[in-house]
Amino acid sequence: MSAVPSATGAPLLRVGSLRKAFGGVKAVDDVSFELVPGELLALIGPNGAGKSTCFNCINGQLRPDHGRVLLAGTDLVGRPPREIWRLGVGRTFQIAATWASMTVAENVQLALLSHAGLLGRWWGRASEMKRDEAIALLDAVGLAAMADQPCGALAYGDVKRVELAIALANGPRLLLMDEPTAGMAPRERNELVGLVKRLVRERGIGVLFTEHSMDVVFEYADRIIVLARGRLIAEGVPEAIRDDAQVREVYFGSTGVPGAAGARASAAAARAAGQA
Ligand SMILES: Nc1ncnc2c1ncn2[C@@H]1O[C@H](COP(=O)(O)OP(=O)(O)OP(=O)(O)O)[C@@H](O)[C@H]1O
Ligand SMILES: [Mg+2]
Repeated sequence: MSAVPSATGAPLLRVGSLRKAFGGVKAVDDVSFELVPGELLALIGPNGAGKSTCFNCINGQLRPDHGRVLLAGTDLVGRPPREIWRLGVGRTFQIAATWASMTVAENVQLALLSHAGLLGRWWGRASEMKRDEAIALLDAVGLAAMADQPCGALAYGDVKRVELAIALANGPRLLLMDEPTAGMAPRERNELVGLVKRLVRERGIGVLFTEHSMDVVFEYADRIIVLARGRLIAEGVPEAIRDDAQVREVYFGSTGVPGAAGARASAAAARAAGQA
């Protein structure tokens, strides 16, 4: 594994004073952070903290009420999602992104052709266009042996790997991963996030991800930012976040019963704290 990306490197993503409200709910409330190339930055917080809203403001699905989102200096605010995708912001693990009846290789070939603006040239199942490139990507995610299987026949964890290959086919500079391991068993979660970390380090891609398993977050994130009720309450390396009093308060709570995610996070944080 290569070294942790330098904190002094030029930021790939700069989010400044981001705000988004729904009626009276301040879903994202004055959030600022930066991310450098090759970095795996975890965005954590209880259910409803504003994580997905933050993602949606970055990739153009929502327009923020206020603030800046700069990708290598280019302001993304106000641009449609398709344009933001073309500028190099990928989003992974939307299940609809794979075609169950097509083979694993064909799914990745389509993504490569789409990225190259050649989708109109696709002329059927026998196409060899971009096949070598597709196989190379499948090799990178450990799925070359499955290249000619229909996607619909794959195990859930393998579909996630295909989605990762599809995301990489678009040549992203920044990958947004909103709960990429949802529904996966603990061992699969570790394998997938470990794989992502290796690949993005090699390629210098920045990753912003959310993850409810604190075990996975503490194991793989280079840095962590913590949201609670839309506010950024902590930011730092995993060891610092683990010891942060405010973060413990949010996860363990002093007043109420934690929600489902809070309970999951609390149990994991308790285990993590026990190991500290
Ligand atoms: N489209 C919407 N309309 C109205 N309220 C919304 C909308 N999207 C999100 N919210 C509200 O904004 C707040 C933040 O929601 P968000 O989905 O960003 O949280 P989250 O951190 O992603 O939660 P989870 O861990 O459950 O995915 C919540 O109070 C939510 O109810
Ligand atoms: Mg969410």
